[in-house]
Formats: sequence, C-alpha cells, structure tokens
Amino acid sequence: MAERVAIIGAGPCGLSQLHAFEQARLKGADIPEIVCFEKQAGWGGLWNFTWRTGLDPHGEPVHGSMYRYLWSNGPKECLEFADYTFDEHFGQPIPSFPPREVLYDYITGRAKKENLESYIHFSTSVRYIEYIESTDTFRIRAHDLVADCELVEDFDHVIVCTGHFSVPRVPFFEGLDRFPGRVLHSHDFREAREFTGKDVLVVGSSYSAEDIALQSYKYGARSVTISYRTAPMGFDWPEGIREVPLLTHIEGRTAHFKDGSTQAADAIVLCVGYQHHFPFLADNLRLKTQNRLYPGSLYKGIFWEPNPKLMYLGMQDQFYTFSMFDVQAWYARDVVLGRIVLPDAAAMAEDIALWQGREEALNDAFEQIDYQKDYIIELAKAVDYASCDWEMTVSLFKEWEHDKEHSILGYRDKAFTSPCTGTKAPVHHTPWIEAMDDSMADFLAKRALQS
Ligand SMILES: Cc1cc2nc3c(=O)[nH]c(=O)nc-3n(C[C@H](O)[C@H](O)[C@H](O)COP(=O)(O)OP(=O)(O)OC[C@H]3O[C@@H](n4cnc5c(N)ncnc54)[C@H](O)[C@@H]3O)c2cc1C
Ligand SMILES: NC(=O)c1ccc[n+]([C@@H]2O[C@H](COP(=O)([O-])OP(=O)(O)OC[C@H]3O[C@@H](n4cnc5c(N)ncnc54)[C@H](OP(=O)(O)O)[C@@H]3O)[C@@H](O)[C@H]2O)c1
Repeated sequence: MAERVAIIGAGPCGLSQLHAFEQARLKGADIPEIVCFEKQAGWGGLWNFTWRTGLDPHGEPVHGSMYRYLWSNGPKECLEFADYTFDEHFGQPIPSFPPREVLYDYITGRAKKENLESYIHFSTSVRYIEYIESTDTFRIRAHDLVADCELVEDFDHVIVCTGHFSVPRVPFFEGLDRFPGRVLHSHDFREAREFTGKDVLVVGSSYSAEDIALQSYKYGARSVTISYRTAPMGFDWPEGIREVPLLTHIEGRTAHFKDGSTQAADAIVLCVGYQHHFPFLADNLRLKTQNRLYPGSLYKGIFWEPNPKLMYLGMQDQFYTFSMFDVQAWYARDVVLGRIVLPDAAAMAEDIALWQGREEALNDAFEQIDYQKDYIIELAKAVDYASCDWEMTVSLFKEWEHDKEHSILGYRDKAFTSPCTGTKAPVHHTPWIEAMDDSMADFLAKRALQS
C-alpha cells in the first residue's frame, strides 16, 4: 500500500507543504497519498481574517489573531516565494508593505493555481494523534465539523502545521478582576476604532504591542501607554504614546507601574504573546517550547527528535516567514521521499545542541536575522527550491530595522527591491499613517502619490 502523509493545518506552512509535494508530483515523482486536515472552512491560516472571537460556529476555539487594518510589519521582499513572485501574482510591481488582504491573495493564489484544495479536508478539526508502535504508523482522530462525525485514519508521516500565534498566554495582574473597562488579549483584538477617544494600556513590548499601540494611535485613541517587562522598545514614539515599566497592579481605572507612576485606562490590551499549544498530540509527540529561533527537540528545526516521522513546520520565532516555510517544506518532503537520509539520534542531538548554543549567544536583532538566514541556507542547499538571494534579504531586514528606528510611523512607506526578480517596489500612494482603507482594491489602485 502507498505511504500516507497527514498535514495538519492549511495555513501558510500547510500550503507550502502541499505545494512542495505537488511540485514533485508534477515533475514525475511518485509521491505518497497526502491528506491535509484544516479546522477552518477556508485556507490561509491566520491570514484568513475572521471577525469572530472566542468560539467558531462549531464551538471550536477561533484560530484567527489578525485584526482589521493589519499591514505587513516586514518588507514583503523578505518573505517572497522564490518560485511564485509578487510580480507573477499581481502582474505589476506593488509596494513593499501590503495590508493583510493582499498577502492573503498572494499566498492562496499559488495554492489555487495548483488546485491544492483537492488535498484538504476543510472544517475538520484534528482531535488526537498517537503513534502505534506495532505498525509504525500514526493514528489520527479528527472531527468533521459539518457532518458532525469522527474520522479515524492511519498515516506513515505526520506534518504539524498548526502555527503558534493563536493560543494566548494570559498572566494575571492584581486588580484586573475588578477593572471596570475592557480587558483583552491581542488574540481577540479586531478593531482599533473601539478605542477612539479612549486611554489604552498595552502590556508587552514586542510586535503585537508595537502594532496595536500604533493602530490605536492611528485610529484616534486619546492616549496609549505601553508597559514593558524586560526592556522598552525605545522607538521615537509620537506624542500620545509612551512606554513605562511593568504594570504592578490596578486600582479601579488606575494602572500602577514599577517606577511608581500611574495612568488612568479605559481598556487594557495584553500583548504578551502566545503558547505553543498542541492539545491534539499524545504526550510523547508534543513539542514543548518557548517562542525562540531554535525550538528544542526538532532536528533541522523540523523533525521530532524521538520520532522523526513526525515533523513540525514554522515553530520558530519568525523574521522570515513564507519563504522559510517553503524551504522547510522542501526539506521535509525530500526526507519523506527518501531523497535525504536523516542521521542517527546522536548526530541529530549534537546538531540541535550546536544550533541552540549559537542562538543563546546572539546579542541583538541583527545577529538573529543572520542566524535565521544561515538556518534557511543550510536547508536550501540540500534541496532544489528555486534560487533566492538570501544575503540580500538580510540587507533588506537590516535596512528595515534602521527605518523603524528612524521613523516608527514612516517605516512602512519605504520601498525595497525584490531578491527574486530585482523589481524595485513603487512607493505606496498614501503614507501608512494616513491610509485608512486597507482593501486590496485601494492598495493596488494607481493613484498619484499623496503628501
Ligand atoms: C497578529 C499577527 C500578525 C502577523 N503579521 C505577520 C506579517 O505581517 N508578516 C508575516 O510574515 N507574518 C506575520 N505573522 C506571523 C504568522 O505566524 C505567519 O505569517 C503565518 O501565518 C504562520 O503560518 P502557519 O501555517 O505556521 O500558522 P497559521 O497561519 O496559524 O495556520 C495554522 C492553521 O492550522 C489550523 N489548525 C490549527 N489547529 C488545528 C487542528 N487541531 N486541526 C486542524 N487544523 C488546525 C488553523 O485553523 C490554521 O488554518 C503574524 C502573526 C500574527 C499573530
Ligand atoms: N503585521 C503586524 O503588524 C503584526 C502585528 C502583531 C503581531 N505580529 C506578529 O505576531 C507574532 C507574535 O508577536 P507578539 O508580540 O504577539 O508575541 P511575542 O513576539 O512572542 O512577544 C511577547 C511579548 O510579551 C511580553 N510578555 C510575556 N509575558 C509577559 C508578562 N507576564 N508580563 C509582561 N510582558 C510579558 C514579552 O516580553 P519580554 O520581552 O519581557 O519577554 C514580549 O514583549 C510575531 O511574529 C509578529 O511579527 C505582526
């Protein structure tokens, strides 16, 4: 009987994995039977925007963490698919920082071109995966949410592509339970206009805190206070946004911080990150990690060390996204197809330790970018993924970091050159801070530059 491979999730990682197998098939390879399970009714993962929070119509936890008016926070040139460029998809050069709908169209465009939906069981939530030693297979129990019935199937390989920015981490701060305003995690943030005219407290100091603070400012919050635990982001914030040390407690509407300062708040947004959460995996298969560049127990950042027939994509903290997922998918595919042979357990452990040791010695974001680039190159050189100028992507990322230091409101107005096509992006017709319409139609409209 032909081998069977299960892919869990049809977000960017799952779609990269399906694409990798499809490319091999189109080139004449004898590929295994592939089945992808996706709990949402559509594909695209986090990019498949939903207004819902809490539970979906089937009572499943809502996966989406994206919100209205979300624009790419890195240059699109750093995440471009080398084998399906932005020029190819849009038929014209487009600016470097697209809103969500544009990136959703891009990711799903490649999948549509190959009819990848034929591999996917939509509205099917994977409930439990266990390894059956006697048959050397994985048993998957899933729930078809529409037919409302259980599916039980066995597979030779499982590739987990369920993401790790969906299940919130929620710490408690004294007084939160009596706060008379709205308290939410960034996972449930959908619409910045609810904070127009309000005093907003944002807790956290990473990308969600940065962007939700900017969004709230852009859509008219009266004040935004960002409370950090380890270090402030330190950007040159506009008047109306300030950073303070960690929240200690809340009395009524008043938030108190470690330095003794206070701030009245109408709403508190906890931008404190997410958990790697895999309730559907048996104990001996479940990855347990913080959000880091090289999670432990994953050889090449992919293969579950105790049982490498189980794979995980995209579990790293991410500078690179779609292009890194593609390279991981190619590598995973080539191991499944027997084109790459994995070393023995001791060599895998040694390799993981080497990469983690290097990660622990990194000093700043610039070194982290170089590190993730080196990781991608190591995978890319072992597979036949389309060529990309990875060194150039590093220069773009570093330029982007400088742009943010120079202007946190203006960095998304910059234009970069594609490492895949050499195309120089046009400047968007409207500065980001004034661009209230985040639709694809408006983004792609040819208009004279404003301001
Ligand atoms: C607010 C926010 C903004 C972001 N902005 C950017 C950005 O601007 N640029 C960028 O490059 N990256 C951004 N990211 C990073 C994001 O992680 C990646 O772009 C990408 O979505 C990761 O893809 P993924 O496939 O690993 O996971 P996801 O996109 O999370 O997809 C996982 C899929 O698995 C499915 N799934 C989960 N559990 C099950 C189950 N039990 N059974 C079946 N299916 C299941 C989900 O429904 C989902 O479709 C952002 C992340 C967040 C949270
Ligand atoms: N396109 C966009 O504009 C956009 C917007 C939002 C998010 N994103 C993406 O979403 C992903 C997730 O970003 P994220 O910011 O949600 O998560 P994250 O990068 O993991 O950061 C988590 C933050 O929470 C803080 N934190 C954790 N526990 C805390 C506690 N108990 N008290 C106070 N602070 C605490 C951490 O602070 P320490 O430093 O102290 O650990 C850190 O600042 C990233 O890939 C990002 O690129 C993109």
